[in-house]
Amino acid sequence: MRVLVSGGAGYIGSHTVVALIASGHEVVIVDNFSNAKPTVLARLEALTGASIPLHAFDLRDADKTERLFADEAIDAVIHFAGLKAVGESSERPLDYYDNNLGSTFALVRAMARHGVHRLVFSSSATVYGESATAPFTEDLPTSATNPYGWTKVMQEQILTDIAAATPGLQVALLRYFNPVGAHESGTIGEDPQGIPNNLMPFIAQVAVGRRERLSVFGGDYPTPDGTAVRDYIHVMDLADGHVRALEYLGEHPEVAVRAWNLGTGEGTSVLQVVEAFADASGRPVPYEIVARRPEDLAVTYADATRAETELGWRAERTIEQMCADTWRWQSANPQGYPG
Ligand code: NAD
Ligand code: WQD
Repeated sequence: MRVLVSGGAGYIGSHTVVALIASGHEVVIVDNFSNAKPTVLARLEALTGASIPLHAFDLRDADKTERLFADEAIDAVIHFAGLKAVGESSERPLDYYDNNLGSTFALVRAMARHGVHRLVFSSSATVYGESATAPFTEDLPTSATNPYGWTKVMQEQILTDIAAATPGLQVALLRYFNPVGAHESGTIGEDPQGIPNNLMPFIAQVAVGRRERLSVFGGDYPTPDGTAVRDYIHVMDLADGHVRALEYLGEHPEVAVRAWNLGTGEGTSVLQVVEAFADASGRPVPYEIVARRPEDLAVTYADATRAETELGWRAERTIEQMCADTWRWQSANPQGYPG
């Protein structure tokens, strides 16, 4: 298949590009570089040996999106493009609703016009809101606690409604838990701009000497060591999950919309991640326990049964590999991508 990867220059998108090409698919990327650097492209071409067409524009530009579909023979779309910082979404809700919903509208309109019927959408475990108890199953009701989360809930609903009204359209809603790690080559990885919001890149920057110490948000949760528990999933396992979901839609034309959790099904505490990272890197990771971060849940992890049963996909890589691969990327690229 020739797959359009929106947001393909970003963290998860770039790793999925590698997995798609390794599985024999062709890739076209569209990205506006609002949260990525153009230098990722050369890295991807070196890693895959493929030449990857890049369209650098904002998907909300309906004319350009339309032209892209007219110029490239697209068979399917994986839609990663979006803004993703939870805290920022509460400060700039309009930007989040506009970017995340607007890009989806333009994309889906162009798909309909050009007869493209397969869409894999980047959703998030955040759609389980705050009332669910782990492990989360896909049939739980969805809700959110911040504008970012609402954009995911809304996009899932919008895509479900459109699929119901569009014979032949197929949509996979992939709900990621906590993606971490990097490609084992160490040449591509997560490169957050400014202070990292997420745990793993923050730890990596402490280990490499860019930051003094980690603040552990909360040491009094009802968990074995008092720190919060999450389901960390290696980004290459996640990438493989996208390839499987795409292929599953092809094998199951009767499926219009389906949600799958992509997680390991196992929880790891903040302090366990700190320890695993110190072991993998051979560097100390100084930390201090501070107040809880508002709205953080104590424990979240997936029930990953549906993806295993239906897609035949399971996350294979351990927390040790997640840390080792993050460290390989971070130590080889202490300041992230050049440019
Ligand atoms: P990322 O920011 O690294 O990648 C997103 C890419 O989309 C960036 O390269 C950005 O430049 C591009 N983009 C944003 N808006 C665009 C637009 N209007 N037009 C064209 N390009 C645009 O983020 P990521 O971590 O790779 O996440 C990818 C997707 O997965 C996002 O939709 C995110 O919400 C979702 N997700 C991420 C996580 C996570 O923890 N990283 C968890 C669950 C879901
Ligand atoms: C993990 C744990 C923090 C940073 C977020 C989004 C979610 C999804 C994935 C997109 C928590 C603790 C963190 C730090 C810390 N994204 N922590 N010190 O919050 O589980 O999920 O990313 O869809 O929607 O909310 O991930 O990596 O921010 O935090 O102690 O400096 O690490 O409190 O317990 P989170 P995270």
